[in-house]
Amino acid sequence: MAELREVQITEEKPLLPGQTPEVAKTHSVETPYGSVTFTVYGTPKPKRPAILTYHDVGLNYKSCFQPLFQFADMQEIIQNFVRVHVDAPGMEEGAPVFPLGYQYPSLDQLADMIPCILQYLNFSTIIGIGVGAGAYVLSRYALTHPDTVEGLVLINIDPNAKGWMDWAAHKLTGLTSSISEMILGHLFSQEELSGNSELIQKYRNIIAHAPNLDNIELYWNSYNNRRDLNFVRGGDTTLKCPVMLVVGDQAPHEDAVVECNSKLDPTQTSFLKVSNPIPHSPGKLTEAFKYFLQGMGYMASSCMTRLSRSRTASLTSAASIDGNRSRSRTLSQSSESGTLSSGPPGHTMEVSC
Ligand code: BEZ
Repeated sequence: MAELREVQITEEKPLLPGQTPEVAKTHSVETPYGSVTFTVYGTPKPKRPAILTYHDVGLNYKSCFQPLFQFADMQEIIQNFVRVHVDAPGMEEGAPVFPLGYQYPSLDQLADMIPCILQYLNFSTIIGIGVGAGAYVLSRYALTHPDTVEGLVLINIDPNAKGWMDWAAHKLTGLTSSISEMILGHLFSQEELSGNSELIQKYRNIIAHAPNLDNIELYWNSYNNRRDLNFVRGGDTTLKCPVMLVVGDQAPHEDAVVECNSKLDPTQTSFLKVSNPIPHSPGKLTEAFKYFLQGMGYMASSCMTRLSRSRTASLTSAASIDGNRSRSRTLSQSSESGTLSSGPPGHTMEVSC
């Protein structure tokens, strides 16, 4: 059994009216691939999975998920679940820089650390939310431990290994760009980067001046050396649980996510396109996550706000009008009109937001 260290941290968090403070506890657990740190919010709820998140390269759990998990509408959802936010090794706040020559875990090994976390917490099942590299890690975990994953929200996933063309482009970019610029190019679209908004400036600054930039580079290298997930629709190598694939419009990974959608079970997979950068425009993602949980039987419409209930009613009727649940469901959001459309391709139902 893994050796355990525990650090208790009570975090400051803006509260909404009527909310009681939730204590966040940060733990570290030793695994065959080194130590991993994770932060638990809330208390376990009987007969409910934990929500487990895994962040992208260049970020940690807070910079990746705080905008989503502290979004006001998200509160009525997450209060029903305990949350486990994993920091990839060396990405936790205050992490020391790994010594020269340190062998950073591969993404597959990062996935293999997750059972140690769940065993430590005595949690049997999860709903995973992963972004980029984190989405890959959670998918790999789901392939090897399908019985413990009740659902997955995969944001900007690229399930493919880099081909030689990608490597050539990567090497060329590496000649002229710093690691932090390359990571920014992974996190944001070219349009966003050239727009240089306050948000981009903030992330450019955070990553370029990160005291653990050397650790970040190691996670980045593991991401670039990932194996192909080899999803095969109807084959053995496929995700068995409900999956919500999310991609930002103009995101660098759009084609990869579309291809991933084509390889997963259409009866279990929904595809959602939202405006970028995703975790910073959490409204539509929150709403789609509610539907996703509801589909899994976890968010009774009585738990929802009146507005959400009316939207859900529209959505449910869309599915029954179509009368065919064996096709992939597409949820697409138009940023201009502020509408959320739902239903299988070719049959779109609009629900105004
Ligand atoms: C949470 O409530 O789960 C949470 C709070 C702050 C940052 C990330 C997650």
